[in-house]
Amino acid sequence: MDDRPVARSPVDLPELELLKKTVSLTPEDERYLRLIAEVLADQLEEVLDAWFRPHPHLYHYFTGSDGALDLRYVEAVRKRSGQWILDTCRRPYDQAWLDAVHEIGLRHHRTKKNQTDSVASVPHVPLRYVIAFIYHTTEMIKPFLSKKGHAAADVRKMADAWSKSVILQVALWSHVYAVDGDW
Ligand code: HEM
Repeated sequence: MDDRPVARSPVDLPELELLKKTVSLTPEDERYLRLIAEVLADQLEEVLDAWFRPHPHLYHYFTGSDGALDLRYVEAVRKRSGQWILDTCRRPYDQAWLDAVHEIGLRHHRTKKNQTDSVASVPHVPLRYVIAFIYHTTEMIKPFLSKKGHAAADVRKMADAWSKSVILQVALWSHVYAVDGDW
């Protein structure tokens, strides 16, 4: 996230607690998320390379009005995505975090896509791709979690904690896409 004003999340803390329960995110997972931040701190660029690399059909959402990839846009989003990884692991999941998460949902949706970087790109990322991208987002991280000599059981718990948080955040983003009252 950056320092621009963010929208207020329509979700409150009691609802967040229910979602955390639903995705089985426990205080132990929150401790493992802190550990992930330590493990990834000096590998962030490699993680971002792995995350951004393998899906050419998704580059479409980063193209400009001429149809070519807008590298300035990709670079700006990549930088914020690095910060998001750290925020996911380090920030307390409070109302300010809920607001920041909601803002990222809006930035994938036509409501706010392209505004942060003042680009003229494709107007909207479809929800189906955001959901389907969870798999890659949770798999690509695994090799990096095991690079610092932690026991296999701890690596597994880090991977689980990461997956739960990503699923939780996509569930929160889906509010932006859902028909009123259906969320
Ligand atoms: C698990 C799924 C996904 C995660 C965790 C994720 C994560 C992120 C993050 C952290 C940002 C930066 C937010 C910020 O401004 O601070 C971002 C922006 C963006 N993502 Fe995703 N993303 C996901 C799926 C996708 C998919 C499938 C696409 C389609 C290609 C996509 C396209 C974009 C674009 C175009 C932006 C820039 C939006 C803007 O104009 O501000 N994302 N994403």
